[in-house]
Amino acid sequence: MKTKAKTLILASALVPTLAFAWPWSTDMMNQPNIKPQEGTPALFPKRSIPVMGNPTKIKNREESENLKNPYEATEASLKKGKKLFKIICGACHGLTGLADSPVSPKIGAINLTEEYVQDMLTEGWIYGTITFGGAIMPAYGVPGPQGGSNDLSPEERWHVVNYVKNQLAKDAAAAPVAGAN
Ligand code: HEC
Repeated sequence: MKTKAKTLILASALVPTLAFAWPWSTDMMNQPNIKPQEGTPALFPKRSIPVMGNPTKIKNREESENLKNPYEATEASLKKGKKLFKIICGACHGLTGLADSPVSPKIGAINLTEEYVQDMLTEGWIYGTITFGGAIMPAYGVPGPQGGSNDLSPEERWHVVNYVKNQLAKDAAAAPVAGAN
């Protein structure tokens, strides 16, 4: 008798978990939603999928040295360049290029407002540096040894070059506190 009662309790404890799925236990699953593989897939936003870089005709920085910048340093170009500079270059070189970001000394990112970059490097060389990267700097136009990306299209790279050469040093000089703007 005792064993029978025990078996009954045990059986009744197990039964619901094995046999029942209450109707409301699937409510969440069956709410109106889009199921996997259902309908036409939404198009991915532009440039959200990595591809093998933008087609870049030149092969390396040496070949880029004497390239002419096809985009004039207009107000619109400088504005685009500045925005991209702050997003991409600022992390290492500082928001105004003064090499004053917390990362700058660790990685050895140079001050871009000094004579070396402003007067000695050609626009083409800077374009090439952005495209192919440097000894440490990553590439932004081709997949590179340091894990390059195609984050910047050729046009965007030239806008950044325009900004670096024409307005970066002025912005840096006008900044009340280094890197504050
Ligand atoms: C991940 C950090 C990092 C980022 C981001 C970065 N740089 Fe650099 N950059 C460096 C370092 C480090 C150096 C110096 C060593 C070298 O040449 O790689 C350098 C050097 C340079 C040089 C000098 C090249 C030469 O021939 O001496 C230029 C010009 C330059 N960067 C421009 C830029 C511009 C413009 C951007 C944004 C598109 C940028 N950098 C983004 C780290 C970075």
